[in-house]
Amino acid sequence: MFWDITHQWKENLMENFVFYSPTYFVFGKEEETRAGHYVKRFGGKKVLIHYGGGSVIRSGLLDRVKLSLKAEGIDFVELGGVKPNPRSGLVYEGIELCRKENVDFVLAVGGGSTIDSSKAIAAGAVYDGDFWDFYQGKSVTKALPIGTILTISAAGSEGSPDSVITNEDGMYKRGATGEAFRPAFSILNPALTQTLPPFQIACGITDIMAHLFERYFTTTIEVEVTDRMIEGLLLTVIKEAPRVTEDSNNYQAQANIMWAGMMAHNNSCGVGRVQDWASHDIEHELSAIYDCAHGAGLAVVFPAWMQYNMKHDINRFAQLAVRVWGCEMDFMNPENTAKAGIAALRSFWTSIGMPSDFAGLGAKEEDIEKMAHTACYGDGRTGTIGGFVKLEEKDVAAIYRL
Ligand code: NZQ
Ligand code: ZN
Repeated sequence: MFWDITHQWKENLMENFVFYSPTYFVFGKEEETRAGHYVKRFGGKKVLIHYGGGSVIRSGLLDRVKLSLKAEGIDFVELGGVKPNPRSGLVYEGIELCRKENVDFVLAVGGGSTIDSSKAIAAGAVYDGDFWDFYQGKSVTKALPIGTILTISAAGSEGSPDSVITNEDGMYKRGATGEAFRPAFSILNPALTQTLPPFQIACGITDIMAHLFERYFTTTIEVEVTDRMIEGLLLTVIKEAPRVTEDSNNYQAQANIMWAGMMAHNNSCGVGRVQDWASHDIEHELSAIYDCAHGAGLAVVFPAWMQYNMKHDINRFAQLAVRVWGCEMDFMNPENTAKAGIAALRSFWTSIGMPSDFAGLGAKEEDIEKMAHTACYGDGRTGTIGGFVKLEEKDVAAIYRL
């Protein structure tokens, strides 16, 4: 709190924070061919290579990675089959494998789902209890070291201390967090994203933007540095999105999006401020039940969340509309500006091929009450979600209806 010139107590100023992001980032063309070198540098002698449903086999990436490990004399075992919205079953399998084979390093080759599954395995392999404890709030303080070779710009897991897994027992999709989840190294070669179909690229872009919005909508004031960083990243992604969805071979545009995706979620632009994250919680119910892409779910949820909550700080919504979407400020009625910003966001996401409603996700109205309940109370939750506005079950249901 401080006493300002208008003689009022101001609360909610920038909070104290610690920012420690020790991941070693290696960015650029062909860097995946040096994977073995980086595994060795970070102490790996026996590696679990973890990957998804086959894109890394088809592109030849997996073979290049194995060659690189062999060249450094590093032994490895492999486990593929991670599904988008990764499941607990494969995590248990990976933990078993690591223990049986004395694995000391987990190398994720793929997208956010593969990285998150790798993180869960890395923590579970050195933990006596059930790895799911971490997804019910236990902090992750110990894990095998993790390396990542990223193939899609989206989740930001390559630089984040987070992992999101769906427990097949109840289909709860939950996040775990802890510094031990920050990868030791992450290889970011934008050329690896060129095999992505336009829909997946667009889902990734939507997720990146959502990570920025979750931080932008805050109750903390005087956080100009992080406000401006978020706005700058949003402007970059908005500029580059049409270039990559039209031509996935556009290396320069992919490169900007890839680094923006990392910056959006390693929390450099979230420090010292209250963050929201209700839209992610609301979306996770959709991708858990309907198995839709996380980004597609966010494209439907976030504009509805904005519409429902803008009254809590109309000026912040109007500021975003002016600075990012170039809307004209209506000083007489800033609500008009805020609404214009939300409309601009909706039409931008539609323009890159994202769905705009429940039908586009295959979601059903009859599931709304159940999803709203699980989002607020399921699996250890205590009734409200969100930091910018605390939402109750009835609010979440209203947002799904919007
Ligand atoms: O499985 P494969 O065959 O590799 O195919 C994948 C998958 O079908 C495909 N793909 C990835 N790279 C490709 C490619 N296809 C062709 N060429 C390439 N280069 O894309 C599909 C989606 O992959 P996925 O890993 O699921 O995507 P994403 O990175 O968006 O990850 C989504 C998951 O991350 C979680 C989400 O909830 C979701 O489960 N999140 C994780 C976060 C974190 N750990 O910090 C934060 C996020 O908010 C998010 O919740
Ligand atoms: Zn996300």
